[in-house]
Amino acid sequence: MSLKPRILFVCLGNICRSPLAEAAFRKAADDAGLDAEADSAGTADYHVGSAPDPRSIATAAGYGIDIRHYKGRQITRRDYTRFTHIMALDADNLADIERIAPNDATARVALLLDAVPHRRGQDVADPYYGDSAGFEVTWADVDEAAQALVTQLLTGG
Ligand code: 4NP
Repeated sequence: MSLKPRILFVCLGNICRSPLAEAAFRKAADDAGLDAEADSAGTADYHVGSAPDPRSIATAAGYGIDIRHYKGRQITRRDYTRFTHIMALDADNLADIERIAPNDATARVALLLDAVPHRRGQDVADPYYGDSAGFEVTWADVDEAAQALVTQLLTGG
């Protein structure tokens, strides 16, 4: 049996999309009985130490999940060996993650929506500059991907 999956979800600011991805994955893993670790980070350092955006907190709360205690952080070189998978929320995040990868990286890096066969190559759009309805779209995207990722991990992906 391979190592317990350790998944890092990465967006730009680590206050809107990747905290929701982390929360959706934790719930999907729990529901499926998958023993996994999860965390999230940003490629940028704009919101280090901050709680998630209030609109992300409200969206997660709507699905019964409390993310008020999550704290923004920036991806580090160590993340590339600490985690088994690093999931990028969009193509820009993916390019940044690949650009700063250390030579000894072992994590598998992929676009989050690649976990959903009919959504390969798609971005989870950045809802930061939009209205709160955009955060429901973000939740639907990350929840669909989280459930597909859990299935993939349970079947040896
Ligand atoms: P996130 O959204 O990458 O989903 O956390 C953003 C959060 C903050 C900013 C941009 C995107 N910002 O420019 O501060």
